[in-house]
Amino acid sequence: MPTSAPIDPPSVKLWKKFESEGTNAFRICTLGGAWIERLGGDLLLSYQEESLLPDLLAWCATLPAITGFLPDRIFGRHLPVRNQERVSPVLLEGDGELPLHTTVTEAGVRFGLDFSAGYSTGLFLDQRHNRAWVRQNAKGRFLNTFSYTCSFSVCAALAGAETLSIDLSRKSLSRGEANFVLNGLSAETHRFFAADVRESFPRLARKGERFDTIILDPPTFSTSHARGRFRVEDDMGDLVQAALEVAAPRGRLLISTNCTRLGVRDLERICRLALKLRRLSGSFHPSPPLEDFPRGAGASCVWLQLGA
Ligand SMILES: C[S@@+](CC[C@H](N)C(=O)[O-])C[C@H]1O[C@@H](n2cnc3c(N)ncnc32)[C@H](O)[C@@H]1O
Repeated sequence: MPTSAPIDPPSVKLWKKFESEGTNAFRICTLGGAWIERLGGDLLLSYQEESLLPDLLAWCATLPAITGFLPDRIFGRHLPVRNQERVSPVLLEGDGELPLHTTVTEAGVRFGLDFSAGYSTGLFLDQRHNRAWVRQNAKGRFLNTFSYTCSFSVCAALAGAETLSIDLSRKSLSRGEANFVLNGLSAETHRFFAADVRESFPRLARKGERFDTIILDPPTFSTSHARGRFRVEDDMGDLVQAALEVAAPRGRLLISTNCTRLGVRDLERICRLALKLRRLSGSFHPSPPLEDFPRGAGASCVWLQLGA
């Protein structure tokens, strides 16, 4: 990619719209193998090639004049080909003494970020529309599997649901509990399980637990002591089947993946087979497109409505 590729100016209209909705975490622009995000008072540049950095920084320097936004800091994050090589963002510009723990808002909901916690800072921006659905519609019992920092659970709890968040990482769940507190919610009245989701599903089913909404957004690849390797392309089918065992008769499931080899049609095919094997019926509902992501960027996802 040429380093001198022009980058479109930010859509000021969209910028103002986000701000008026109480959202200060969004993608500002995308340029092939690079993109720029606003995360509260800071910017995060993500790039596949270091050679893109000068152009990205020059572009950031034009932001105050166009949007009136002067970033506190600019962080950079190299996107390695191999996931194992992923590292925390590095500070490129701004005060090195400012805290690495910050807070962003999305439609007025607060989420903690940590620029030192690794490659991901704490909130996946490409799930904004799905979180908005949950915030509007979740009620009854809500199961958030692969919950990470529990952003979906916070939205469900704000909507009045009783939530259970499951993640292998105790640390991510603790950040999730902190997100509840940030939003004036008591983490005590919600459940957080540090476990392998593949072990939790049968346990929940045996106990007769049923959920009105289930979030299934696994990583592309992971390993656990309990169950070994997880590879989304091989294991999503079993996961959907297991989730159907704990879904309420008119339950709704979000099936989502960032694996570029699985598109929406693949997810629907996997769900159709799982429904057939469990002798259930359901209909699919697409997630609305994200205004700040180009077509095809971000997670592939579909909502499955049971009993319809
Ligand atoms: C892609 S993130 C999920 C993002 C989350 N849905 C969100 O929108 O914030 C993947 C998460 O799955 C967790 N994880 C990976 N393998 C797991 C497993 N087998 N069981 C439970 N959690 C797992 C990781 O610790 C990580 O927090």
